[in-house]
Amino acid sequence: MGHNDPNLTASSLQAHWMPFSPNKEFKAEPRLFARAKGMYFYTPEGRELIDASSGLFCVAAGHCREEIAQAVFEQLQTLDYTAPFLRGQSKAFELAERIAHYTPADLNRVFFVNSGSESVDTAMKMALAYHRVRGESQRQLFVSRERAYHGVNMGGVSLAGMVNNRRAFGTGLAGVHHIRHTALPQNRFVKGQPEHGADLADDLQRLCDLYGGENIAACFVEPTAGSFGCLPPPKGYLDRLRAICDRHGILLVFDEVITGWGRMGANFGAQAFGVTPDLMTMAKALTNGAQPMGAVAAKQAIYDTITNAGPAKGIEFFHGYTYSAHPAACAAGLAMMDIFANERLIERAAAMAPGFADAIHALRDCPVVTDVRSIGMMAAVDVAVDGAPGVRGHEVQKRLFDAGLHLKSTGDALIIAPAFVMEPKHLDEIVSKLRAVLLSL
Ligand SMILES: Cc1ncc(COP(=O)(O)O)c(C=O)c1O
Repeated sequence: MGHNDPNLTASSLQAHWMPFSPNKEFKAEPRLFARAKGMYFYTPEGRELIDASSGLFCVAAGHCREEIAQAVFEQLQTLDYTAPFLRGQSKAFELAERIAHYTPADLNRVFFVNSGSESVDTAMKMALAYHRVRGESQRQLFVSRERAYHGVNMGGVSLAGMVNNRRAFGTGLAGVHHIRHTALPQNRFVKGQPEHGADLADDLQRLCDLYGGENIAACFVEPTAGSFGCLPPPKGYLDRLRAICDRHGILLVFDEVITGWGRMGANFGAQAFGVTPDLMTMAKALTNGAQPMGAVAAKQAIYDTITNAGPAKGIEFFHGYTYSAHPAACAAGLAMMDIFANERLIERAAAMAPGFADAIHALRDCPVVTDVRSIGMMAAVDVAVDGAPGVRGHEVQKRLFDAGLHLKSTGDALIIAPAFVMEPKHLDEIVSKLRAVLLSL
């Protein structure tokens, strides 16, 4: 497949070292987008592709929202940048307040970063800082889970539970231990939370028994593992992790970079599953993907403990980024908060979820499909391994592009996570394009 973008020649594709992409293959056979609107992407040739995964779980309100574009434009003309250290700007404070209306009650202190990866590493530092000021600096270990994705910075990649992400970099932090994932054969083709696997949370207790619970700083989990391919938590699993953390003074961190902002049919996974963590990360849909931004919401008690520990004056938490709370990102975030409120977008996601699940699960009759999982507005369809793991998934993803559908695939899992402005006709289009390609295999 060629490309007709007048701004790009074959040679000009070479300088950009693309992330998480087979560079040689892409540059020989590029798949480019030139613009987007609502539920659709458009190629330079003008071909329309339905966006079945909100870009990369970002665009909850649909593409190219004018309210967000306008807010960013105005902000850049008013206050384009200010140092976030020792200086403030009103939109950062306003956005933190607005976010705190959506997070569980106690998680009302918000630290801004620029990505999901930065939010994870920031949460790791918060956990270490919190324990240290309480005289428990021996708590240096972290617990994470197999099949987890926690971004790609050195902290997050050490937490990671996906082998290709870990292989070369995952031992950056030595003190990370992994509990088992919850993808059990008995849980195949389940809608929502599976029945089996709550006891896998007891792996955390085993690590406490082995290393001493008093040495563990925090346990990180995605309430539903997203990037690996939609693994909802078994019923009772997160409650059990919470109880073990409480027993040993371990902080429970929910990485809500995907599950936050309505994807689970509630504000955050925390509310969807009725379990409150101590720290919560977020990014992606916070600005509808229109500006890079992430955040960590911390329990007030954690903020108070860290900020009250030191002398009356002076920096309490030695951490932050040049672009923390960037004015343009804050403007985009505030515009997105208005969209969430005015369009009751999260309620809309919750209302759509059952019909979405039914439609995607109907694909199980395609012979190549080996599992379908779903929760809220996220689902995954696994295709049978063909030769080596991931080969068929990659091929399907390319065929879907050619058939007019964009989605995120991981290995042999096709992940469907559309924008919450989806209408029934869009869901029909997604399912019929998926079905046609799955049957062609
Ligand atoms: C759960 C989770 N954490 C962290 C990240 C990393 O976010 P980013 O790519 O914005 O750094 C992701 C990205 O998909 C994610 O799904």
